[in-house]
Amino acid sequence: MAKAKSFTLLPFISFLLLASCLSSSSGEQFKANVTIANGLAYGYYNYICPQVEGLVRNYLMQVYRSDAGQAAAILRLQSHDCFVQGCDGSVLLDRSPERSEIPNKDFKQQTFQIIENLRQIVHYYCGRVVSCSDLLTLAARDAVFFTGGPDFSVPLGRRDGVTFPRPGQTSEDLIAPTAKTTDILARFARKGLNFVDAVALSGAHTIGIAHCSSFRGRLFPNRDPTMEFSFYDRLSRYCASPAIDPLVWLDFRSPFRFDNLYFVDLMNRQGLFTSDQDLFEDPRTRGTVINFAYNQQQFFVNFAAAMIRMGIVGVLTDGQGEIRARCNMRNSDFYNLESVLEKDNISSSAAI
Ligand code: HEM
Repeated sequence: MAKAKSFTLLPFISFLLLASCLSSSSGEQFKANVTIANGLAYGYYNYICPQVEGLVRNYLMQVYRSDAGQAAAILRLQSHDCFVQGCDGSVLLDRSPERSEIPNKDFKQQTFQIIENLRQIVHYYCGRVVSCSDLLTLAARDAVFFTGGPDFSVPLGRRDGVTFPRPGQTSEDLIAPTAKTTDILARFARKGLNFVDAVALSGAHTIGIAHCSSFRGRLFPNRDPTMEFSFYDRLSRYCASPAIDPLVWLDFRSPFRFDNLYFVDLMNRQGLFTSDQDLFEDPRTRGTVINFAYNQQQFFVNFAAAMIRMGIVGVLTDGQGEIRARCNMRNSDFYNLESVLEKDNISSSAAI
């Protein structure tokens, strides 16, 4: 379990991880066997911005090296984008109601800024041809790679959304940590994702952190009987005060490493959320959990395929949507703002 202050070790540990993943990487990305949405393609930017994937990876290497916590945050951010109104970059919009709803409140401004920085770099070299939703997809894929997970190709060609989800939609579409498997499978199915995808994608909880408030109900007033006793003992002492809401590792066995130990946690009844632990308790998903716990390669292959399937949910392509000039604003808002600023400048210089 982590104390928030142990994050001061992050730069050092993340440097070691990055070094080991870069040196062990053969440079080969594998392509999962997934039917992709019309309008998306592998190598979509080969002619109009061939350097996009290299630019993204280079920048993120520096970011994740100095703050490995951002890798987990970006991986989570992409899933929140895709589950609400599809992978259209709507979660990046400052004015979208989804930004103020509870599941998204904890994202730091810095995480959004990383995607905007990527946009600036890529648009500087290629012009405004790459969407913010594709940049988020690439950043999430690279978060997995840089923390030791599989390196896989992702289809690109998404365009950015121009509509906001309605208020309340975010809390409805994102799954609560208190959810049981029946609810989880139904919600994944609504997005076209099957039970193996649900288990594999939950394996993203092999990295990152969570607040005690996300699983407090499993500790108080009584121990959730599906939680192993010594794990409960540590957590209940650590999370004792509701006034402060400390952070704990999602996978205490290897919190910085993208590996299959999350599934070993579940087999030991040391999953953090009900939504995690119940995947082992439920007979429909237990076999997949055990399979992934014993076979990391199986997990990696299925995770990559599930990420691609999640990454095509509700995408906008071809003539739909737009390529944003700023990731945090729709172009209509951006150009309105520009003309307001221009008017302001004219009137202030007229006043002089
Ligand atoms: C059953 C579905 C899921 C539920 C209920 C769930 C719930 C949560 C919750 C409650 C947190 C911690 C929030 C906090 O307390 O601060 C979290 C963190 C996280 N989630 Fe999920 N999640 C689910 C699926 C996913 C998926 C599909 C991904 C990515 C593919 C993902 C990636 C992550 C990551 C990486 C973190 C750590 C974030 C950080 O350290 O900043 N989750 N999730």
